[in-house]
Amino acid sequence: MQQEKIWDADAAQRYDTPGSGMFAPEVLGPAVERLAELAEDGAALEFAIGTGRVAVPLAERGVPVTGIELSLPMVEQLRTKADESTIPVVIGDMATTAAPGKYTLVYLVYNTISNLLTQDEQVQCFRNAARHLTPGGRFVIELWVPELRRLPPGRTATVWQSEPGYIGLDTYDVLHQHVVSHHFHFDDTQQARLFRSPHRYIWPAELDLMARLAGFELEARHADWAGAEFTAESRSHVSVYRIPPIR
Ligand SMILES: C[S@@+](CC[C@H](N)C(=O)[O-])C[C@H]1O[C@@H](n2cnc3c(N)ncnc32)[C@H](O)[C@@H]1O
Repeated sequence: MQQEKIWDADAAQRYDTPGSGMFAPEVLGPAVERLAELAEDGAALEFAIGTGRVAVPLAERGVPVTGIELSLPMVEQLRTKADESTIPVVIGDMATTAAPGKYTLVYLVYNTISNLLTQDEQVQCFRNAARHLTPGGRFVIELWVPELRRLPPGRTATVWQSEPGYIGLDTYDVLHQHVVSHHFHFDDTQQARLFRSPHRYIWPAELDLMARLAGFELEARHADWAGAEFTAESRSHVSVYRIPPIR
């Protein structure tokens, strides 16, 4: 499964859910506020900008935002909300593609670093973030904590969400740290719609080591955008890495 094939025109058209899910004000509001604070007075670069779920409100909040994105259909959706001069986007792979200029903030949210399926690509992604930052600049990652405690010995799949009309099921290859998320949407008919996405999961400690390889220090880690304490039970984290300022 290649990312370009996953994030096709159909996925792009279904992605936005204005006002609900990942587009709910209580989800987006704190994320945008925190990112604006971390950008200080500089510009931000979003890796895997998608349809601009975060970039559009962040730009409206007064932070200049540029994006890097692999999928043309996702960018076409973004273009229904913001033009090229408001939010410029470079088409390419976030692990290797260069965007013009320097930034005080690079951010990569909604678990998307895990869309890179090898450790090498994930380290490259950190290095690419570092290349775009000014001294003292920050790289912010939002990522889920791998849920291997839900996987009984000998089993390779877990249902992580089950509700009327939707089942979320993950299949694991623990040897390669790979998980494929299966999203089944169904109604009263015999038909179901399936969206699948492959990921390489990363433990927080491995993420910190990748950051160090690229010259970052961990500045902060919280369980959410509002600053809740990160604990052993946290299911997700927002980690802020920083290039040391020049002294
Ligand atoms: C879950 S969406 C997140 C989009 C957006 N950041 C958001 O928070 O809504 C994942 C996005 O990552 C993009 N993507 C996946 N792999 C990528 C890569 N290697 N380089 C750039 N974009 C990538 C996909 O095309 C898709 O738009």
